Amino acid sequence: MSDKYRVVVVGMGKRGMHHAQAFHANERFELAGVCDVDAVRLDVAAAKFGVAKSTDASRLAASVKPDVFCFCTPPQLRKELIRTGINSGARLIAFEKPVALSSQEGVEVRELLAASGVKAVVSHQHRYGEHYRKVKVIIASGALGRVHTVYGTASGWMMHMLSHLIDYMRWFNNESPAQWVMGQAAGRGKLGDLHPSPDYIGGFIQFSNGVRGIVECGAGAPDVPEVDYWWRKCRIGAQGTDGFAEVLTGGGWRAVTKSGVASGTGCMNYDLDMPPYVQHIADWLDDDRQVHPCNFESAYAGFEIMMALCRSAVNGGQVALPLTDSADEIEMLRDHLASHRVLVSTAVNAKEYIPASAEPELATVR
Ligand SMILES: NC(=O)c1ccc[n+]([C@@H]2O[C@H](COP(=O)([O-])OP(=O)(O)OC[C@H]3O[C@@H](n4cnc5c(N)ncnc54)[C@H](O)[C@@H]3O)[C@@H](O)[C@H]2O)c1
Repeated sequence: MSDKYRVVVVGMGKRGMHHAQAFHANERFELAGVCDVDAVRLDVAAAKFGVAKSTDASRLAASVKPDVFCFCTPPQLRKELIRTGINSGARLIAFEKPVALSSQEGVEVRELLAASGVKAVVSHQHRYGEHYRKVKVIIASGALGRVHTVYGTASGWMMHMLSHLIDYMRWFNNESPAQWVMGQAAGRGKLGDLHPSPDYIGGFIQFSNGVRGIVECGAGAPDVPEVDYWWRKCRIGAQGTDGFAEVLTGGGWRAVTKSGVASGTGCMNYDLDMPPYVQHIADWLDDDRQVHPCNFESAYAGFEIMMALCRSAVNGGQVALPLTDSADEIEMLRDHLASHRVLVSTAVNAKEYIPASAEPELATVR
């Protein structure tokens, strides 16, 4: 009998192929089956890896009986595939961010996982980037003195990017629990997107260790001119009494501390980030004590912050965490957000957020 963990990957788009490739290349795993509702994508993936295929995830999982059930589908599919993964008998479910599209669904996913005892990881794999790790090391070394602030900005919209920003801010802040948030949101343009979001959301997070979180995501977020590739215009860092350290997703890292000014290279790279991400899946399956850094409970804590920011944007004021009830936050935003066009921070953001027929409206010229 093989001592490899058998893996099924569902959704053979961009991220599914990254996952399949990483599992296939790791000797601790046997990629045993792939699934997609798109027959062309499915055939390409099955031929590339030489594995079983199906357009039906349940049927594939029932025949392959995987140890790891991985899915990388659009965000509309979460609860259903978590259930499929649990029913397949898998010991671990690996899936993509965001955790869910509402706190209603997020709570149900969490309850399903808790009742089953199945481990789960959520793909916030930027943590493995050399530049991300360098910033983490500088912060953990104490070189910033007393850290009082962690922050994150991204030009991309909420359901794509905020999950990432919050995860890395929480990581830089030693995963201290959040006590409350207060947020604002603007712009309805991306509410109908496959990653439904306000065009712009920002807010404050109070962490229980006293550190302040400040986050901005979308059309109004500040540019990161050092980075060309729009999706990688993200800046995440920490400030303390003795300096700061920050990572640019597409542009290395930099720090100013008592020892001076330092900087280095690094760029988000799936080929480099995925191998250690899947290796840690094997490590956690081998040994319960080696909990995966991207474990579900950690991702869920970040997801709750995101949903609480949406609620604050709708209802005003502070929202206490952990949440004690559930809601459909995107529906709340649909009902509430004013129809004013979002004000953008850069001309590039205008291209992404303002319909071609409308004149770009730069916040700076108002
Ligand atoms: N972690 C990251 O850095 C990162 C980067 C990009 C995207 N993502 C996330 O990954 C997820 C997938 O994004 P993507 O860019 O790979 O999308 P994609 O559109 O390239 O791929 C999704 C695939 O899922 C398939 N699919 C849809 N419904 C299915 C079903 N019921 N059964 C089987 N297959 C089904 C589609 O046919 C498609 O091939 C999203 O949640 C997205 O937010 C994460």
